[in-house]
Amino acid sequence: MIIFDEKQNVIRLDNGRILYLIYINSEGYLETVYFGESIKDFDVSLSRPTGGEESTIYSISGNREVEYPDGYKYGLAPVELSVHASRDKRGAPLIIKRENGSYVTDFIYVSHKIYKGIKNLDNLPCAHGENCSTVEFLLKERTRELYVKHRVTIFDDKDIIIKNFEIINNTGKDVVLSRAMSMQLDLPSIDYTLNHFSGRWAQERNRVENKVLDGVQEVGSNRGISSAEENPFVFLKSENAGLDYGEVIGFNLIYSGNFKFRLFSDYYKAIHITYGIDDEDFDWVLENGQSFITPQAIISYSNNGIDGMSHNFHSFIKENLITYRFDKEYKPILFNSWEGCHLTFTMDSMLAYVDKAAETGVELFVLDDGWFGRRDDDFDGLGDWHVNNEKLNLHRLIDHCHKYGMKFGIWFEPEMINYNSDLYKAHPEYALTGDGDCAHITRHQLLIDFSNPDAVDNIYNQMKAIIDEYEIDYIKWDYNRRVLEHFSNNLDGRHQGEVYHRMTLGYYSLLSRLTKEYPKIMFEGCASGGARFDMGTLYYCPQIWTSDECNPARRSIINYNTSFGYPLSCMGTHVNVSKIMDYKQKSLFALFGTYGLEMNPNLLTQEDKKALLDTSELYKKYHKDVIENGTLYHLRSPETDNWYIMQCVNADKTCSLILLMNLMREQPHSRYLKLKGLNPDKKYLNNLNGCTYYGDYYMKIGVNLCETWRNEFGCELLILEEV
Ligand code: GLA
Repeated sequence: MIIFDEKQNVIRLDNGRILYLIYINSEGYLETVYFGESIKDFDVSLSRPTGGEESTIYSISGNREVEYPDGYKYGLAPVELSVHASRDKRGAPLIIKRENGSYVTDFIYVSHKIYKGIKNLDNLPCAHGENCSTVEFLLKERTRELYVKHRVTIFDDKDIIIKNFEIINNTGKDVVLSRAMSMQLDLPSIDYTLNHFSGRWAQERNRVENKVLDGVQEVGSNRGISSAEENPFVFLKSENAGLDYGEVIGFNLIYSGNFKFRLFSDYYKAIHITYGIDDEDFDWVLENGQSFITPQAIISYSNNGIDGMSHNFHSFIKENLITYRFDKEYKPILFNSWEGCHLTFTMDSMLAYVDKAAETGVELFVLDDGWFGRRDDDFDGLGDWHVNNEKLNLHRLIDHCHKYGMKFGIWFEPEMINYNSDLYKAHPEYALTGDGDCAHITRHQLLIDFSNPDAVDNIYNQMKAIIDEYEIDYIKWDYNRRVLEHFSNNLDGRHQGEVYHRMTLGYYSLLSRLTKEYPKIMFEGCASGGARFDMGTLYYCPQIWTSDECNPARRSIINYNTSFGYPLSCMGTHVNVSKIMDYKQKSLFALFGTYGLEMNPNLLTQEDKKALLDTSELYKKYHKDVIENGTLYHLRSPETDNWYIMQCVNADKTCSLILLMNLMREQPHSRYLKLKGLNPDKKYLNNLNGCTYYGDYYMKIGVNLCETWRNEFGCELLILEEV
């Protein structure tokens, strides 16, 4: 709920648990008076920094020093939008270069309106829902017809705040946005650690935790996509907080391109956060009469530790972000051809794959890379999205899947082009290059310049022809390189600073056209594994391939950390050939993700197939209710413990699944694991020992894990069901 307290000139965003207070001061600046747990009452005059030299300004026309009437501390007070090229040196989220070359921007309050819901952003993925309210401030630059709409949304049923800016140019001239971030948040304390998720291919999202220090700390990507190297999900943890206690503030961005999270702490030990599109090589020409909308930044507030923050993000993503209409319905168990055969297959071998895959209980067969153009190796094919009829009869393959009652899915990498492809020969200008003769390649491929609408249309038409001709239920959308040089042959010199963002908009425009026209098809995001695992992609794709690493030893770290910011229901996780566990254990591990299989099915023994069939039954019985729609608790991190333990509890607390894996061998010594989220008064049957105990026993004494020796990578599933 949002209320305007006219007496105090304060906008109060309050959902009964969290409170955000914005004071419109007498100079027209928006001061952030408070953000945190709800409090009973407040007096704005007692809650602001005031007085001192920072509260005066020299009036040139009046030839004297003027004091701000209510003692506004210009440049030190926490505010919603810092001025730029003026007193405030903390770093404004918006930098706008005017027609006369001046960088000064000083936005002053004009008006505000409060409404139910959240504004839909035309060509950007964004949050939706009626379970929230928004305050939209209109601000005007002191001396020019340049406006900012500053929106802040609070959700009723989850502790989520959303912010974004829209810049409107009515100056009569073009201006250049050299920074257009989505939000600013000033907090009065430095006593946090900054947690972010660094990595690389097959090692995405290692959790890095550093103390917030004096000066600047930044997390970001300048690789054209959100990247494997960093993720847009970051959080601040108060120093004494843990998994289920203490203050944690999480941040994310509904965006898939370059981003920058910047934290500056000043000599008063206050912190100043700006977050949004990375400003490196960013210059956006905003013509007179045009507006620029920044992506939405999501803030999750918790005073119940890291898991409290996660629960906000999880429910937000499931209820207010994903737009795939059939997300709540049963999702078929997926088999993917990639790891089993890569690009080396024939029609016969693929038919045999389908036969064998069917014996494992899978319900959706996905033909990965290699079916199109001259794609017998990775030097060719990308850009030529027509079936390689010499290699494959796709109708026959799909019919074959249907005979087993399986659905059919296929792989695309729409934003890429091989220099040997027919598309490149016909349209070399579609490739993104350097401005000289050289363009770096990765995996022998170039990027298509998705800032060029013609190129996007070309790929759209090719994909549409395939989707219209064949019965396709699922599309895996891949992206296997980074942006290095970023020169567009389609834009003139003034607009080259727009390429990165326009490429991201091109990605969204293609995805949004296809997902709207084919609402039943489920799209799964992918980028060399999890290099574009972000909220922008999730808006269109209800699941994303989390990593090319399927070995549970390493994947456990990736999945554990990813699930701090994203629900298990969207984390593509498959059983593969990895030798460290048997199929029973590997499949239990994969159950705590989307669940699917990816191996050469011809090599599976009867015993392996039996194990996979057993886990398919568990999937059908529990996955939707307990894992996809349940609440996730992180119990032990494989980064810091010998254990990887996660627990899911369904909404009515009648069932809980606990996944336990140890990394090294464990002796049968005393070890108790306290569970969470159960009903203390209900009795639960334990599938591992057949005993029945109250929920409060499991939460206070815990599961006794000291009964047996455990070999390295032993993986078990404990199921507690109400009796
Ligand atoms: C990427 C993906 C894999 C697979 C290959 C195909 O690496 O992450 O899952 O689809 O591309 O080339």
